[in-house]
Amino acid sequence: MTDSTTAAGQGNPDYRDGGLVFPPAFTFGSATASYQIEGAFDEDGRGPSIWDTFSKTPGKVFNGDTGDVADDHYHRLDEDLDLMASLNLQAYRFSIAWPRIQPTGRGPANQAGLDFYGRLIDGLLARGITPVATLYHWDLPQALEDEGGWMSRATAEAFGEYARIVGEAFGDRVHTWTTLNEPWCSAYLGYGSGAHAPGKMSPEGALAAVHHLNLAHGLAVLALREVVTNDPEFSITLNLHSIRGHGPTGAEAARRIDALANRAFTGPLLKGAYPDDLLEDTKQVTDWSFVEPGDLAIIHQPIDVLGVNYYSTVTVSIWDGVSPRANADGHQNVGGSPWPGSDIVEFHVQPGPYTEMGWNIDPSGLFDLLVQLRDEFPEQPLMITENGAAFADTVTDGAVHDVERVDYLRRHITAAHRAIDAGVDLRGYFVWSLMDNFEWGYGYSKRFGIVRVDYDTLERTPKDSALWYAELAASNTIPA
Ligand code: FCB
Repeated sequence: MTDSTTAAGQGNPDYRDGGLVFPPAFTFGSATASYQIEGAFDEDGRGPSIWDTFSKTPGKVFNGDTGDVADDHYHRLDEDLDLMASLNLQAYRFSIAWPRIQPTGRGPANQAGLDFYGRLIDGLLARGITPVATLYHWDLPQALEDEGGWMSRATAEAFGEYARIVGEAFGDRVHTWTTLNEPWCSAYLGYGSGAHAPGKMSPEGALAAVHHLNLAHGLAVLALREVVTNDPEFSITLNLHSIRGHGPTGAEAARRIDALANRAFTGPLLKGAYPDDLLEDTKQVTDWSFVEPGDLAIIHQPIDVLGVNYYSTVTVSIWDGVSPRANADGHQNVGGSPWPGSDIVEFHVQPGPYTEMGWNIDPSGLFDLLVQLRDEFPEQPLMITENGAAFADTVTDGAVHDVERVDYLRRHITAAHRAIDAGVDLRGYFVWSLMDNFEWGYGYSKRFGIVRVDYDTLERTPKDSALWYAELAASNTIPA
């Protein structure tokens, strides 16, 4: 860690430098996801997804909130496109809802679904905003879940077909294709802890899901490459964990969590193999026989850019089996474990300050993660595809003076700049999120937007952070 210590120490220790200039080609954008913003849950042929089912299951989502209406983006597309342009966004990362394209996850395309995303992509291009399309941000068609979902290999194969349909439709216009958003969450929260849809709690199922998601990525990249006609970039977005060890067992605990959270994805995706220590750590849970001959070659596709989502750090040790146990991995604890085979790892409460999610604010964790990736994958360009913060915003005379969010963004974007100075090939930064939205298990109780959404009127109001970010995106310079 000498590199990071030295480079991170070069600026202001609190990461509030101001005035830093990014390279002209560096991209500043914002991100959203279909189920979190679109609404129109049963319109124009959209089929149900696992998040429709999950959010309507009592007790699963805070306050019984659902994405039925969300931000009503589906009906306010033009207004939202104009909003993005007014904020000088250079790129927009959105996701395509699989059940709008294939209502049951298989079969012919639903033209109305394709039309909606066609209008979105054309609207972006008309405004000079680069489209960055994610194929899967967690809204699996419910019909596929009924056949086993990501625990089943057939879902990966269906995903390849879905990618082909979308690639045929938009493969002349999309700049960057991202196959999956945070497969860690899909696998371990969806099938391990049960905090996310479909709410299953199966350690083996979670690891099977890891593999089938990796396989789905490979099949999708192969299908897209066959059908696209422009020269797009291919990517996947991972929520890689920035891990610190605590005490004498910290190194072993960090190794285990790094294997499950990070290398279970970067291993097959970027090196063509699952790490030996991951297989060893999980051997009581599964023999990994769901990995079939040829799968790793499919998964191991060259990608143009690796998407990194970063919010906070984790600190771990091995539980001594006696002391009261901390359980602060930053995720809702609903009973199941998101750490198959490594339940002995204890997650420590992090030093503050914290965001409204209870996640600690630590820009050095972002810097360290980027530098570690540079060291492990020196040839792999990176992009921060999500970073941002929820705070309890208040409206004052029609404005939202979200000083904490501006400060969060300033400090993390400074960390990104220092990573570039340290030799990281970092291509862009996307703030999460363009606007307040359905925050999964937390419903509408957590506001991540740089634009406020009034959930009674659905009116959009740029917060001070949006104005600050617009200045940054116009100049590639961190405003003073
Ligand atoms: C990420 C998700 C995104 C949003 C942020 C806060 O894990 O990709 O949809 O919920 O967290």
